[in-house]
Amino acid sequence: MDSISVGGRTATVDEPLRCAVFLSGSGSGMEALVHAQRNQTLLHQTVVVVANKTGIEGLERARRLGVPTLVVEQNHEGGSRSREEHEAEILSQMKEYNVELVVLAGYMRLLSPLFLSDWTNRVVNIHPSFLPHFPGAHAHREVLASQTTITGCTVHLVDEGMDTGTILAQRIVPVFKDDDESTLSARVKVEEHRLYPQVLTWIAEGRVHLTEGGVSIVGAEGPQVG
Ligand code: GAR
Repeated sequence: MDSISVGGRTATVDEPLRCAVFLSGSGSGMEALVHAQRNQTLLHQTVVVVANKTGIEGLERARRLGVPTLVVEQNHEGGSRSREEHEAEILSQMKEYNVELVVLAGYMRLLSPLFLSDWTNRVVNIHPSFLPHFPGAHAHREVLASQTTITGCTVHLVDEGMDTGTILAQRIVPVFKDDDESTLSARVKVEEHRLYPQVLTWIAEGRVHLTEGGVSIVGAEGPQVG
């Protein structure tokens, strides 16, 4: 198989890769990303924040940053709608932003196969553990219960599974004896906030390729890149 470039094109400073950040919670990762994009003139930019809930801190942060927001709730007109209907509305509202890459940052819903088939290799996620260890919604709780002394964070392509897509980059984070979920989460987020802008830069530079052997990131250093 020929190698496939993740993200679709090589971006430039004048035409940065247009990202939609999807979130469901506090949005600290989105805020760190937007700060990095603005302070370092990166090759990617957040053109819209998409939330599946109202009243969350992530939306407040986006508004303070002046990033456009879309709120598309799962429930609609008093009833719940299917995942596909929900996503169709997200995509329809997102159209005007000419999004090229979907960046999940604490988005706590699985995307449907239909969505992913339209966005193949153009959806990334950050997860607060060293995958494949501790996937799912309660990574820190399970890390602490396991008594492991190391955890981490992972940026991966999104497929139909729960945190199962191709891993692009990971960082290791220590777990301390007196940690609780909140101290551990805060330590992991420090690494997440460095890693995500870095991986998006590799994608925007056209350096991330899928090959028969997995993923290759041209010129990237480091043992945790696999
Ligand atoms: C982050 O730690 C992110 O890795 C995690 O949610 C947090 C969002 O924090 N994502 C998942 O657990 C996805 N499985 P934030 O809203 O402050 O950026």
